[in-house]
Formats: sequence, structure tokens, C-alpha cells
Amino acid sequence: MNVLRIFYLVLFFLINKSLSSKCTTTRTGNDVFTDCHGRGFRYVPRNVPNDTTCLDLSDNELSVISNFAFFRLKYVSSLKLSSAQISVIESKAFSGLVKLTSLDLRNNTLDIHSLLENVFNSLPFLRILDLSQNNFHQYPEKVLENLSDLERLSINGINEQTFGNGFRSLSKLTYLNFHPCSITRIDNLMFLRTYN
Ligand SMILES: *[C@@H]1O[C@H](CO)[C@@H](O)[C@H](O)[C@H]1NC(C)=O
Ligand SMILES: *[C@@H]1O[C@H](CO)[C@@H](O)[C@H](O)[C@H]1NC(C)=O
Ligand SMILES: *[C@@H]1O[C@H](CO)[C@@H](O)[C@H](O)[C@H]1NC(C)=O
Repeated sequence: MNVLRIFYLVLFFLINKSLSSKCTTTRTGNDVFTDCHGRGFRYVPRNVPNDTTCLDLSDNELSVISNFAFFRLKYVSSLKLSSAQISVIESKAFSGLVKLTSLDLRNNTLDIHSLLENVFNSLPFLRILDLSQNNFHQYPEKVLENLSDLERLSINGINEQTFGNGFRSLSKLTYLNFHPCSITRIDNLMFLRTYN
């Protein structure tokens, strides 16, 4: 009796696990939306269709984004990695995402050390970047240096921190959102580098 019970429990667990770890793909016209959100993934799944244009991997437990994790996915223009417990992003993690225009890294545990200097260099067309609700105590300005197409940036507002040189090249930026915002004082120096 007990053995049978354990057997059924294990079976239930396995079936449940395999069902919950499947992504669903919806095709409408040229858009291929692959929804992998909230599936308990600990790594980027390998079976994402390679014609995916929009990939949602939010609400997972990824913790590390390894080099070449998205290499096959050349058509992805929008990538959601919010609330995925990410603290480490390897320097070639976004390699191959040549069409990426929108990257959502909101609500992870990123700090200045999580983003290596050239981590965004493979994303020349990035227009929207969300880094808000992370653990930054300094602006990760160095990694923003080559994002010359960036139009919208969301990031933690950090008190008593000025923007560095990296912000100079963001000449197309039209939207800047601080969240959460712990800035209590804004002075001219802070934006000196953005308008030059
Ligand atoms: C996508 O995958 C299919 C098979 O799954 C393959 O035939 C095709 O060449 C791949 N396309 C690209 C662009 O990698
Ligand atoms: C942030 O992420 C944590 C852990 O992934 C999650 O529990 C929480 O609901 C998320 N909060 C928001 C506001 O998305
Ligand atoms: C930005 O691009 C220039 C020229 O390609 C390069 O020298 C520099 O190291 C890049 N910056 C970062 C932060 O990768």
C-alpha cells in the first residue's frame, strides 16, 4: 500500500514537472511568441523554436545567464528576463541576439559586478532596457557606453550618485525612469553628462 502510494506520488511529481516545464508558442502573422514564464526553469530551455521573435522567460529561477544562452535565437526582438532571480550574466550571454530591441531585466539581483563591461556590446539595436528593481548602488554606466540606439531606460534611482561618461553616448534617450527612486536631491551635476 505504502509503496504504491509513493509510486503514485513520484509519478504525479514527474508528470507535473514535465508539464510545467513546457513553453507554449503562439504564431500570429510574423510574430512568434514563446511563453516560458513561471515554469520553474533554472536554465534557458533548449527547445525554444528558433524562429521565436518574442521570448518571455520571466518568473523563473535562472540565477545565471551563461554565454551563448540565446545563440540560436536570431529573430528574437523582445526578451523578458524579469523576476528570474538573476545575479550573474556572463559576458557573451546575449551573443547572437542580433535583432534584439527590448530587454527586460527588471526585479533581479543584479549589481554593478553582474554586468561585465562588454555584456551589451552584441546588442547594437537595443532601444528599450529595463534594469529597475535590482541591487545597484552605482550606475552601471560603463556597460551602457555603446548603446547608441537606446531610447528608454529604467533603472534604480541611486541617491548621491551622478551619471558617468557612459551616459554621454545615449543621445537618443527620450525616457528615463527611476524605480525604486531613493534620490532625495537632484542637482545640475547629475545630468551634466547627458546633455552636452
Ligand atoms: C531552425 O530549426 C529547424 C529545425 O528545427 C532547421 O531546419 C532550420 O534550419 C533552423 N533555422 C535556423 C535559422 O537556424
Ligand atoms: C520580484 O521577484 C521575486 C523573486 O523572483 C518575486 O517573488 C516577486 O514577486 C517579484 N516582484 C515583482 C514586483 O515583480
Ligand atoms: C565600446 O566600443 C568601443 C569601440 O568599438 C570599444 O573600444 C569599447 O571598449 C566599447 N565599450 C565597452 C564598454 O565595451
